[in-house]
Amino acid sequence: MTEQSSFSRRAFFTTAAVAIGATAIGIAGSSSASAASVSDGVSSLKDGRVRVDPSKIAGLQFVGGSVNVGKVDGKIVGLIRTKASKYRALSLRCTHGNSIVSWQDNVWVCREHGCTYSASGKVRQGPAKKKLKSVKIKTSGKFLVVGKKPTTIA
Ligand code: FES
Repeated sequence: MTEQSSFSRRAFFTTAAVAIGATAIGIAGSSSASAASVSDGVSSLKDGRVRVDPSKIAGLQFVGGSVNVGKVDGKIVGLIRTKASKYRALSLRCTHGNSIVSWQDNVWVCREHGCTYSASGKVRQGPAKKKLKSVKIKTSGKFLVVGKKPTTIA
């Protein structure tokens, strides 16, 4: 097994494990208004955003690692570590159709028709023509807060 295939398998399983946990939050969140823990590293906030503790997520322990944090602002969102202390959040919805992309061999891949996107979401191979949508992310202490803060109407 090559180092790269080992990386891809690790990234896939990490993404899958957190995605399963994120699905559970939808169920747990419907019965409680308080923040519901998805795993040790990902939790939902009351305002719909997601708080991530990268130090507790295996897939974010290395540059190039990723994790699916579940739904944020109605979008399925992936988080990728691009540098030692830099992260990027993207909608995982393929811009060609409705499929969800996954991180494999250093690109976002859509299995539906085979398009690929770079880590930043730019189209590398069609048929998609538009890049993946960026999702707002900010650092708050040791946490990352993913999603746009809702505006309140007075
Ligand atoms: S839906 Fe993703 S490539 Fe067609």
